Amino acid sequence: KEYIDQVQAFSTQDKAELETFRIKFLGSKGLLKDFFAAFKDVPNDQKKEFGQVINLLKTSAEEKVKSIQETLASKEETKGIFGDLTRSSEPVIIGSRHPISIVKNQIIDIFSNIGFNVSEGPEIEDDWHNFTALNLPEYHPARDMQDTFFIQTNPDTLLRTHTSSVQVRYMEENKPPIRTISPGRVFRNEAISSRSHCIFHQVEGLYIDNEVSFADLKQTLLHFTKEMFGKSKIRLRPSYFPFTEPSAEIDIYWGLKTETDYRITKGTGWLEIGGCGMVDPNVLKNCGINPEEYNGFAFGMGVERIAMLLYQIGDIRMFYENDVRFLEQFKANI
Ligand code: PHE
Repeated sequence: KEYIDQVQAFSTQDKAELETFRIKFLGSKGLLKDFFAAFKDVPNDQKKEFGQVINLLKTSAEEKVKSIQETLASKEETKGIFGDLTRSSEPVIIGSRHPISIVKNQIIDIFSNIGFNVSEGPEIEDDWHNFTALNLPEYHPARDMQDTFFIQTNPDTLLRTHTSSVQVRYMEENKPPIRTISPGRVFRNEAISSRSHCIFHQVEGLYIDNEVSFADLKQTLLHFTKEMFGKSKIRLRPSYFPFTEPSAEIDIYWGLKTETDYRITKGTGWLEIGGCGMVDPNVLKNCGINPEEYNGFAFGMGVERIAMLLYQIGDIRMFYENDVRFLEQFKANI
């Protein structure tokens, strides 16, 4: 009975002290355990009263622990709300997303909505995934030392020149139907200017199924440009890529409203944002897909180009300089 008084009188603000109290009464080697163990030795005529007392002790100890725990927790919460009262009243400066990330995420959202998933692969690639599987013969100019950063030759290890390499990996590991986009950083040994850089970002897309047509490709691109730019005037110019046949360059019509538009589109209002085409049967074969049964389309576009139009950035180098005066301007887009 005197323990009951002790329990009722107990109070603390301290978590550790509360824990000591809990262990003393309710712990696996605590007092209550002993009392319950002693119960069987209590003479029968006293069993009833003894039982009542230890049950009361148990519930009051439990309630005490619970109520102190709750008080302590709510105190901590209050402290969280008011925080550190000595802190400066100046707002905390937070960063902003990089414009490339903003645009890349927008592209991912648009394609996710029409059933494409996102696939990723390594930036350091081997010859097979970057070139050979993509039907790029050994003498192809894109393999030239001028365009590719080689890390090692024989066997070749290089910085991927496009994210088509990810599509090869994806086809090797997945069976059709395939709808995937591969966003990522790519590297080309090019002279740096206001319009091109040795590092840039691409989003490439791949769609493989039965009876895919060029019209499907065009509609997909039209849908994309409409979502991305609010308009969808595009031009597919016949072109050549070793991995697609037929192939085309994708131009979008942006117009000439500002001086930056003139600069980016070289005064034409049109901007090439990437390439596309129907996947060459040889590529499917190389990746373990039967071209008799399946076909598909692929496209690839430059994220920087799109970001330059949308945000009126006249010089591609701005993206990589990390000048906070530039980066800060994208705060509203988080
Ligand atoms: N891989 C090409 C490039 O980097 C783009 C492309 C992708 C073209 C898919 C056609 C089909 O330029």
